[in-house]
Amino acid sequence: MNYPLSEKYMTAELMSKIMGPNPVKLEEELLTDHHIQKGATVCDLGSGQGLTSIFLVKEYGFKVYAADLWSDPEENRQFFSSMGLSEEQIIPVKADAENLPFEQDFFDAVVSTDSYNYFGRDPEYLDSKLLPFVKPGGYIYITVPGMKKDCHDSLPSELLLSWTPEQLDYLHDVAYWRSIVSHSKGAEVLAVSEMESNDEVWADWLKQENEYAVGDRKAMEAGGGKYLNFIKIVLRKKK
Ligand SMILES: C[S@@+](CC[C@H](N)C(=O)[O-])C[C@H]1O[C@@H](n2cnc3c(N)ncnc32)[C@H](O)[C@@H]1O
Repeated sequence: MNYPLSEKYMTAELMSKIMGPNPVKLEEELLTDHHIQKGATVCDLGSGQGLTSIFLVKEYGFKVYAADLWSDPEENRQFFSSMGLSEEQIIPVKADAENLPFEQDFFDAVVSTDSYNYFGRDPEYLDSKLLPFVKPGGYIYITVPGMKKDCHDSLPSELLLSWTPEQLDYLHDVAYWRSIVSHSKGAEVLAVSEMESNDEVWADWLKQENEYAVGDRKAMEAGGGKYLNFIKIVLRKKK
């Protein structure tokens, strides 16, 4: 597919901030035909080093809370400021998705790119830990790395060149994710589907020289990508 909004984020400096397959392109596909109002208060859940949060502010006009567990919010604050954004527009927050530090019904929407698979595999997670912070009628847009078909009982040797069975347990297919989110009583499931972005976002990631990208090359160069995909999940909190 084409990624007209992501093109200007394809500089070496900005791509050095990504922590996996190009999250900006994933987010652009995820938000095609989205229903979030301009000016909405949005949580970028698992924002990493914040490139996707900047993208949400600059390209969609949202006010964004960049919520992440592993990254340093002070570094993210400096990055946001260097990109010309104010603290009115984008707020870095050290946050554990299992115990979010926000008021009830705070967000108009949540967008989560390449991180929900770390904490959202518990079918109870959505109702007990995330939905309380979303306004009734608010949207949740998620993209997770996944598998075309779950194969945890006989993992392909190509994938085991880069990842352990425990790491691969974070990846699942559309049917798995549909069953996890359908467990929710508080959210309507609007979509769970395979995305188009896969080869392109992986190619952008594998060009990076950090140790994680270099480690991922073994599986992908052996053809492991044919078992993998990205999955889009769209939910709406019931009114
Ligand atoms: C693969 S990185 C993706 C980061 C970013 N979205 C990107 O694509 O560049 C996964 C992110 O999930 C975040 N994460 C994992 N567990 C989390 C949790 N319990 N609460 C908040 N963030 C979490 C990590 O801090 C990390 O930044």
